[in-house]
Amino acid sequence: MPIVLIGPMGAGKSRVGQRLASAVDAPFIDTDVRITERYGPIDEIFAREGEEYFRIIEREIVADALREESVISLGGGAVLHPETQADLEDLPVVWLQVSAEAVAPRLSGSTRPLLAEGGIGAWKAILESRRPVYEALADLRIDTSRRSVARIVEEITEWFGGAR
Ligand code: S3P
Repeated sequence: MPIVLIGPMGAGKSRVGQRLASAVDAPFIDTDVRITERYGPIDEIFAREGEEYFRIIEREIVADALREESVISLGGGAVLHPETQADLEDLPVVWLQVSAEAVAPRLSGSTRPLLAEGGIGAWKAILESRRPVYEALADLRIDTSRRSVARIVEEITEWFGGAR
């Protein structure tokens, strides 16, 4: 069964996912990386084709990834797709949370298209609009603001070991 990491941009899904995958000896899939490998840089996809198109290709990539026995880190907005929401209902889902203060330095220099204009203000607004979705899907939530990646991985493996 896959383990799925969700949460806003900069919450640490990729960093934690990589380390978690080696801890549980599973492959790691980052859906943003898969999109980039197949379609090119995400900011260019947004600029060329728009967000709606991005969500369609993202859904394809996510649907394939969720069939694999892996640790999967989803792009922050992937949970907006109703079919992805339905898929996640039966899977172990970890919501990585982070405060605005802790995320701000992590986002500096980012090329994420949704933050290109609004910066941290846009990040907060996006999080608030998605919060109910993250809440509904999460089986476990962990605040990454002040925890080391090692500690976060430990908490997830302890939970997953017990939940299995
Ligand atoms: C997005 C998050 C990004 C990426 C794209 C859109 C979002 O992934 O998929 O820029 O809508 O929150 P990360 O959450 O990995 O930054």
